[in-house]
Amino acid sequence: MYKHEAEVMTSLKISASFVMINVPVWFIMFLLCPGELRAQLGTTPNIKHIVVGRCYNYITLVNSSLRFDCEEIWRQFEDAVVRQSSCNVTVEDYHHMFYAMPQTWPCDRFLFWSKTRTLMHSYAAVVPHFWTLEDTLVGYMFNDLIWCGQEEDSGFDFSSCPEWSACRNHPVYSLWRQASQNFAEMACGNITVLLNGSIVNAFSRKSMFGSVELDSLNPCRLDYVNIKVVTNLEGPFIESCSEGSIADLIQILQSRGFRWTCTNNEETLMILQCVQDPKQSSCQTCANSLSHRKRLTHN
Ligand SMILES: *[C@@H]1O[C@H](CO)[C@@H](O)[C@H](O)[C@H]1NC(C)=O
Ligand SMILES: *[C@@H]1O[C@H](CO)[C@@H](O)[C@H](O)[C@H]1NC(C)=O
Ligand SMILES: *[C@@H]1O[C@H](CO)[C@@H](O)[C@H](O)[C@H]1NC(C)=O
Ligand SMILES: *[C@@H]1O[C@H](CO)[C@@H](O)[C@H](O)[C@H]1NC(C)=O
Repeated sequence: MYKHEAEVMTSLKISASFVMINVPVWFIMFLLCPGELRAQLGTTPNIKHIVVGRCYNYITLVNSSLRFDCEEIWRQFEDAVVRQSSCNVTVEDYHHMFYAMPQTWPCDRFLFWSKTRTLMHSYAAVVPHFWTLEDTLVGYMFNDLIWCGQEEDSGFDFSSCPEWSACRNHPVYSLWRQASQNFAEMACGNITVLLNGSIVNAFSRKSMFGSVELDSLNPCRLDYVNIKVVTNLEGPFIESCSEGSIADLIQILQSRGFRWTCTNNEETLMILQCVQDPKQSSCQTCANSLSHRKRLTHN
């Protein structure tokens, strides 16, 4: 979502520099003013083509054994969102859409994350057996998109949508909440949770992991919750398996009967960061610093 906002702003800045010669200064100021843009960001243009196209891409190229009706999924999605005030789409409104796309996933592959999105992508790319929400059909179809309807209209509102925080039943939030819940309910075997040790409240009860996924995990279906705490190479080093909110998470897991392990700064995760930023001083002495990893195991 935020990536998308940044892209919109960049493209507007580029077009503004092209038209500089023959439009008044106030117009350029208007284009460049982030406040205006933010408030005006509506449903992603071409959303139908993007969503239906991604669906066909998924059932054709990602997994050709799936037999889903992409047009029907779109119809159910549209039914849930349009002709509703933009703050009034509940998770229940999406139930028909989710019924049209049931999916099961193999055990031991589920990867959950919070505040580690960029690193999670490289991690999932090099450890190919991991599955994240974005690898499911629903996650794949709606990733990075924005949408909302309008009460007295059968279409989407392309001019502006409310922020997530502005309403209880935000159409985008409700879809992700239900998708996250389904994903967590299906989790089985070992799961991995990737948390950011460079921020306060690495485990937050307000995050999708802390507010939805954790409560949807079933201890009877799971063997281990393997937590991986990872800090930025240059720090700050705020939380770890034994400090801060992660200790609270472990407490919750323990009280619910989950078995767990917790690892600080696993080698793979640090090397992946070094690949993206090899000039970091901690990467020069890679071997030395990485041997400092600590491991806590509990049964
Ligand atoms: C494709 O989907 C089928 C049916 O859900 C599943 O059994 C299979 O494991 C999936 N294959 C891949 C490569 O994800
Ligand atoms: C919200 O939706 C419900 C049912 O879909 C409807 O009864 C209610 O009037 C709506 N409220 C607003 C403020 O649009
Ligand atoms: C941790 O969070 C900060 C702030 O959101 C972010 O800049 C950083 O990339 C994250 N670190 C990792 C390892 O994901
Ligand atoms: C599950 O996790 C435990 C603890 O980390 C590990 O000992 C075991 O080998 C894992 N099993 C699988 C199938 O990955």
